[in-house]
Amino acid sequence: MPNIEIILGDITRQAVDAIVNAANCSLLGGGGVDGAIHRAAGPELLAECRTLHGCETGKAKITKGYRLPAKYVIHTPGPVWHGGGYGEEELLRSCYRSCLELAAENGCETVDFPSISTGVYHFPLEKAAPIAVGTIAAFLREHPEIRRVRMVCFDGRTKAFYDRALEELR
Ligand code: APR
Repeated sequence: MPNIEIILGDITRQAVDAIVNAANCSLLGGGGVDGAIHRAAGPELLAECRTLHGCETGKAKITKGYRLPAKYVIHTPGPVWHGGGYGEEELLRSCYRSCLELAAENGCETVDFPSISTGVYHFPLEKAAPIAVGTIAAFLREHPEIRRVRMVCFDGRTKAFYDRALEELR
């Protein structure tokens, strides 16, 4: 069974190789977890993000972590939920896969994700959680070099959906 954990916490405080940022396509910061990561990392993060010239939804780009306890930040713009008929589910799958590919390419053994797209982007948690856990598990089966992936949930309601999705995987 791939090593996936679901925890309650603040992703900006996790001392892991990489944390994932639920960004927007500009990569120039925002609210939610994006705002929290930029606040904790300090202004150098935005300075490096400016050099990246944005990122497509479902793709990912990597920067240093600066003042964060994490070594890297992997930025991925998740899909905005428009009812499910616009490829949102495949785009969310692509976010998780793209981030893990970048993590593996950069020698990251521990990776923490927030619940991508389920805040401001309104992706329903009952759909997002199984997509996230299923995509992560499939990737880890092919990439044992990534030792552990955690979903870092910011509230109990979110965590319950990921706990259930992981249970259903076993
Ligand atoms: N640690 C972990 N999770 C967090 C934190 C934190 N410090 N802060 C917020 N979250 C959680 C939210 O509670 C939610 O469960 O991250 C999840 C994703 O919510 P958002 O941050 O709103 O991200 P998303 O829905 O992907 O929307 C992205 O919001 O902040 C802007 O610039 C961002 O435009 C982009 C959009």
